[in-house]
Amino acid sequence: MYWHIEMLMCGIIAYSGFREATEVILEGLRRLEYRGYDSAGLGAINGKGIELRKCVGRITNLNELITQKPVSSSTAIGHTRWATHGPPNLENCHPHCDATGRLAIVHNGVIENYKLLKNRLLDLGHKFTSDTDTEILAHLIGHFYDALPASEDKLLIAVKKALAEVDGTYGIAVIHADEPGRIIGARRGSPLVVGLGEGENFLGSDVSAMVSFTRDVIYLNDLDVVDINDSSYKISTLHTTKVTRQKSRVDWDAGDAEKGEFPHFMLKEIFEQPTSLRNVMRGRLNWDHGDAKLGGLQEVKLSQVKRILLLGCGTALHAGMMAEYVIEELSGVPVETDFSSEFRYRNSPVDQGTLVFVISQSGETVDTLAAMREVQRKGVKAYGLCNVVGSTIARESDGGVYLHAGPEIGVAATKSFTSQATALVLIGLALGRTRSLSAREGSELLAELSRLPENVEKVLNTSEAIKKVALRYKDSQSMLFLGRLANYPIAMEGALKLKEISYIHAEAYPAAELKHGVIALVSPETPSLIIATRDGVYDKNRSTIQEIKARSGQVIALANEGDSDITETVDSSILVPETHPLLQPIVNVVALQLFAYYTAVALGRDVDKPRNLAKSVTVE
Ligand code: F6R
Repeated sequence: MYWHIEMLMCGIIAYSGFREATEVILEGLRRLEYRGYDSAGLGAINGKGIELRKCVGRITNLNELITQKPVSSSTAIGHTRWATHGPPNLENCHPHCDATGRLAIVHNGVIENYKLLKNRLLDLGHKFTSDTDTEILAHLIGHFYDALPASEDKLLIAVKKALAEVDGTYGIAVIHADEPGRIIGARRGSPLVVGLGEGENFLGSDVSAMVSFTRDVIYLNDLDVVDINDSSYKISTLHTTKVTRQKSRVDWDAGDAEKGEFPHFMLKEIFEQPTSLRNVMRGRLNWDHGDAKLGGLQEVKLSQVKRILLLGCGTALHAGMMAEYVIEELSGVPVETDFSSEFRYRNSPVDQGTLVFVISQSGETVDTLAAMREVQRKGVKAYGLCNVVGSTIARESDGGVYLHAGPEIGVAATKSFTSQATALVLIGLALGRTRSLSAREGSELLAELSRLPENVEKVLNTSEAIKKVALRYKDSQSMLFLGRLANYPIAMEGALKLKEISYIHAEAYPAAELKHGVIALVSPETPSLIIATRDGVYDKNRSTIQEIKARSGQVIALANEGDSDITETVDSSILVPETHPLLQPIVNVVALQLFAYYTAVALGRDVDKPRNLAKSVTVE
């Protein structure tokens, strides 16, 4: 089963057309850099052969290299890499060439049987210069290419012959100096999109690579092979000569994927939340019946659901964990959440009474994809909660809810979290209305939901105050994040944000767990951030604050505006407007996103591209 393996988290762009191809590739790579930023390279057909430019590090380095050593071309391929196999050095950087140096390939994925293929090629006299499986694939395609007579459609046939021998995953783009203007692409387990233009065509690992040039795209299926040049495209599969795939129109443009006046994508995306929240709710609030209507779940008989299972990774899982409390409260339906990475290897029971959602911003996270397939393998439908339209999870799930949050480029997830959480509240509401939640209670929640963007706006308006608090604690070595009930996952999300972009160690606990061991960490040097907004456990949180203060711990409270009982007893406060207790966690998390952001900026971190991370985790 090909999904039980690793994939590289890299970005691919390929271009054939009337523009200067290297400029298109650089622009595409710049937009794909969030997928990986260890090394980057491009290969261009220059009329004589293939010219390569490669560098370790960011796309700016590649840009400089090309400024110093320009390449002029109308057909080129490019790649940005997040290293998994082999260090990020020049040898391992894509594109890779075949034995003649006239064929070049960029590849996302892992060739599982590379050793076998390599030994075969070594026996035939091939020599390799890198540690990558991609170079082996390049040689294999080249081997078939050179053996074919000129009368055949050499490049297409050679690619198909080679891929037929490959076990593993790939998204590839291949060029050959003897067939200028042509690019062959193929996918299996790693996304590939065709971009359609006038006098130009594109291939990319996601639409952001080409959205500056075209919004007309085709999302390829696994085992598809595409043959493009500047004026035409033809799709076949590994086993057939022609298939038709539907064209789609991307509903956002290049401007949506620009930082604009913001210094970082992350800050822009935090500030976009009033809009993204409106978008996730648009057309989904059923005022007549105090209910939510979710088109993608139309066929689900909500009244018959016995149990809910929410699967995801990282931030997406935290959204599920928050929703666990909210959905149970609204509907009484038992909810379980699990790490996709754990679920896929557990033998966890799911049955027809279980409504399963896989939650994923990118729709490409390999563990979540595998967890979804595991559910489906057991004969149970799996619904998606995705942001990226046309992503693998969106296409392979049995239905679901799009988040409509727009492109999220900052590596740290922000707006996708609040959209996921809000969509899950809507699901809880719809479930609740098939049970004991009255229309009046539903309408009250709807009213508060419609005020959610406004409340988030109010938090954003206090960003300077949050920044001051962040500056006060920025030199901490470690921090505790505490919360109860639905605010416990929010504490986890706050701690994750701080860890990933500021590199400060942070641990999150349900506040009452403090006494069971963690309190040993409390000291003047380890501040505790406690979420103590008004809800059913408010008094409990106040007691926790006292326990920390009694041990000389510094306390930052995330509290409701005007709550002097809290603000007077703690060292610092972050204040947020009060809303419905089930929605308060969504408002609270925005403050924690800003807290992490300002801490990271103050420490001079690379906020949008934190070390060791990549946006789309397509590796196990
Ligand atoms: C954290 C973060 C990750 C992702 C996780 C799942 O800021 O971005 O924890 O949330 O890798 O990604 P998706 O939602 O794309 O499946």
